[in-house]
Amino acid sequence: MSVLDGAVRLLAIDDLGACQRLAEDREWGREDHKWRFLFSVGDVYGIDDGNGELAGTVVSTPYGKDVTAISMVLVAKRFERRGLGGRLMRHAMDNAGTASLCLTATEYGRPLYERLGFRAVGLCTAYKGESDGPSKRGVTVPVEASDMPGIHALDTEVFGADRSQLVEGLPTFCETLRVVRDETGVVGYGGAWKNDGVVIVGPVIAQDTETALALVEEVVPEGPIRLDIDHRHPELIGWAERHGLRPAFTTTIMEYGEPITNDPARLYLPVAQALG
Ligand SMILES: CC(C)(COP(=O)(O)OP(=O)(O)OC[C@H]1O[C@@H](n2cnc3c(N)ncnc32)[C@H](O)[C@@H]1OP(=O)(O)O)[C@@H](O)C(=O)NCCC(=O)NCCS
Repeated sequence: MSVLDGAVRLLAIDDLGACQRLAEDREWGREDHKWRFLFSVGDVYGIDDGNGELAGTVVSTPYGKDVTAISMVLVAKRFERRGLGGRLMRHAMDNAGTASLCLTATEYGRPLYERLGFRAVGLCTAYKGESDGPSKRGVTVPVEASDMPGIHALDTEVFGADRSQLVEGLPTFCETLRVVRDETGVVGYGGAWKNDGVVIVGPVIAQDTETALALVEEVVPEGPIRLDIDHRHPELIGWAERHGLRPAFTTTIMEYGEPITNDPARLYLPVAQALG
């Protein structure tokens, strides 16, 4: 049987090395920390190449019954343009079982997703640079266990789906996770996590821009950083430019199915492009 008719199977953490070799084949990083988190909160699917390696992958992360985030759509160069990407996507879509799907598309993936019925809803640019370290404005405080219900409630309201498993994993996944509280409870939360030697700033969800910028400034570490900024947040683009960050690449934010009832105005930075 040829790889082109091979079954799509659910992968396990033992397949992590093969996923990383496939990613390197497409000039993506090894992203060990990110892959492990994706394995822990979602379903990783792949097609074997018949020689102990993977021909392709797709990750599907369901958030309750409402939204599934699709990511890591990768096909080895030696198998590209033979329908494997489409087959992996259709498998993930058929198994998602949610009213909507979301993803961020590279220029390679976008035509494929459009053909499958995804709609472009925005653009996201990764800004990269060096940070001088956190400011000590004292607006934010380190997260405590008692903040978690408040973070979960705010996240569900703003993201438009119940990401409980992902939210519960954030204190371990993030290097830094801070909150802003007022008398009503948690009004913003923000984190930063390490990905192949660069610290990705996100998630940041907050009631207003002032709170969001305070979170960004108090979670950034010294050294190389990256912010994946939705173009609906020019104030974050302004912050990145003032801090000497430069645009590295742009992806298209896409949705499928029912329109997602999220609030992009308060969704300042994603956890990761792979997770929304
Ligand atoms: C994006 C990606 C996953 C697509 O995988 P793929 O297996 O080549 O995808 P498909 O073969 O299903 O479709 C790709 C193209 O091949 C064409 N195609 C499919 N079967 C074909 C066949 N038998 N013969 C010729 N062309 C074919 C499709 O029509 C499509 O054409 P288009 O892009 O001009 O619209 C792959 O290019 C990749 O891994 N890129 C790098 C990583 C990346 O950017 N991933 C997307 C993340 S959002």
